[in-house]
Amino acid sequence: MSTIGNPSAESSNSSLALTVFGANGGTGAAAVQQALTAGHRVTAVTRHPEQFSQRHERLTVLKGDATVEADVLGAVAGADAVLSALGVPYSRNPISLYSKSARAIVMAMEHTGIRRLIVVTSSAVDPDGFPATSLMKQLVGKYLIGPVIHRLGRTMYEDMVRMEEIIRSTSLDWTILRPPALFNKDAVGAVETSLRPMTAQFVARQDLGAIMVDETTRDDHHRETVYVRSVDGRPSIIRTIWDDAIRKK
Ligand SMILES: NC(=O)c1ccc[n+]([C@@H]2O[C@H](COP(=O)([O-])OP(=O)(O)OC[C@H]3O[C@@H](n4cnc5c(N)ncnc54)[C@H](OP(=O)(O)O)[C@@H]3O)[C@@H](O)[C@H]2O)c1
Repeated sequence: MSTIGNPSAESSNSSLALTVFGANGGTGAAAVQQALTAGHRVTAVTRHPEQFSQRHERLTVLKGDATVEADVLGAVAGADAVLSALGVPYSRNPISLYSKSARAIVMAMEHTGIRRLIVVTSSAVDPDGFPATSLMKQLVGKYLIGPVIHRLGRTMYEDMVRMEEIIRSTSLDWTILRPPALFNKDAVGAVETSLRPMTAQFVARQDLGAIMVDETTRDDHHRETVYVRSVDGRPSIIRTIWDDAIRKK
């Protein structure tokens, strides 16, 4: 397990060109902000540029659908690294955003010779992704919270697994980030990353965005699946399920 103090405080030595998919979402917007803070040039991709509020001289906002190969090819042109924080709400219907966007992004990166890819899925795709510090928490997680989350998100997690398989089958320098439940906070804080599932099942979107940007300049997580969590902040799991599974629909 490694700890990153405050990713936003560390400016990178060299400026990179980064393409961010899902830039209009909570995590994607945080990644864009952190990348600009770190001195990078950013292409933010969204289907709704009119709703994207960030402005910066090193920021280009591009209208595009991450499942459309031509849009993706245009968006990644000239990038040093590609970041995806794409997401859709839970649904009973089949979900294909993750796998379709993975195919389009991989195709575009292989076509253009870009090697570095950082994507977000979820710790919930791992059946052992909810370790607990006590027997009681383990039982609550296994028999109460885990089944609710897996039932609500079944079609999403199925497609995240497909996305991970598509990405692992490439020769790219990929990193798959598997966050636990997301929440929002004002500033970036300390985070932990690990190659194994961790307890404490929350990461702030602001921290996750910072981790994504941090990954663009490190090489120890190439071709690894990485679990992440925020050190500070513990929102209510009920509030999180309400925000993401019910209110977002
Ligand atoms: N919520 C949780 O507790 C939780 C836990 C673990 C993992 N995750 C995962 O973490 C990731 C980030 O979550 P988040 O809540 O920060 O994201 P979010 O706010 O739901 O944003 C996702 C963004 O994806 C974009 N998008 C969707 N379909 C697209 C398409 N076809 N082409 C281009 N853009 C598209 C949307 O932007 P436009 O509509 O502007 O295009 C949207 O703003 C997601 O993959 C989510 O599943 C979430």
